[in-house]
Amino acid sequence: MSNKRVCGFSLLMIVCLAGCGGGKAAAPIKAVATREEVMHHLVIPNAQIVWGAVGSTSTLQGVEEKQPKTDDEWFNIESSATTIMEAGNLLMMEGRALDSGKWMEWSKAMRESADSVRQAAKKHDAAALFEKGGDMFESCQGCHFAYRFTKDPNTIRSH
Ligand code: HEC
Repeated sequence: MSNKRVCGFSLLMIVCLAGCGGGKAAAPIKAVATREEVMHHLVIPNAQIVWGAVGSTSTLQGVEEKQPKTDDEWFNIESSATTIMEAGNLLMMEGRALDSGKWMEWSKAMRESADSVRQAAKKHDAAALFEKGGDMFESCQGCHFAYRFTKDPNTIRSH
């Protein structure tokens, strides 16, 4: 056996030790949390932070405008929007996606609108935060009308 062949053979052995053991290698990515858990722990609390950060309330004293003021407040909104954005990808994963059509479109709509919220937060732009937060709301509604309310028609349609 020439040196070259011995080398090639050992290389094959190493590759096999790493990958040939149990037949098909397991996919490294796995959907662990359920769709409902993704809603409860990633999407809902963070959407509340985004929507609660900006707006106006009418009181007896007049209209109170609310918007983030400090860098920390803006940073927190950016974090929440980033979480929702990536949750869009999580919903598209095998094990969570309900189909490869509309489900993907609404997940993508949530991902993209949350990204716009994120950009608004990075720029400390309250008007954009309000507007993009509205787009994000539409992505929640869109998916819910197609997949959530049909499952449970008595659901309270708050978002
Ligand atoms: C791609 C689809 C999709 C998107 C986008 C989506 N949801 Fe959901 N959501 C669901 C489904 C499906 C359920 C029902 C979960 C279940 O019971 O398995 C649900 C459930 C919920 C619930 C009810 C949880 C409960 O306890 O019954 C709330 C609240 C909710 N989502 C909020 C949101 C918010 C806020 C957004 C947007 C920021 C959003 N969702 C975006 C699919 C989606």
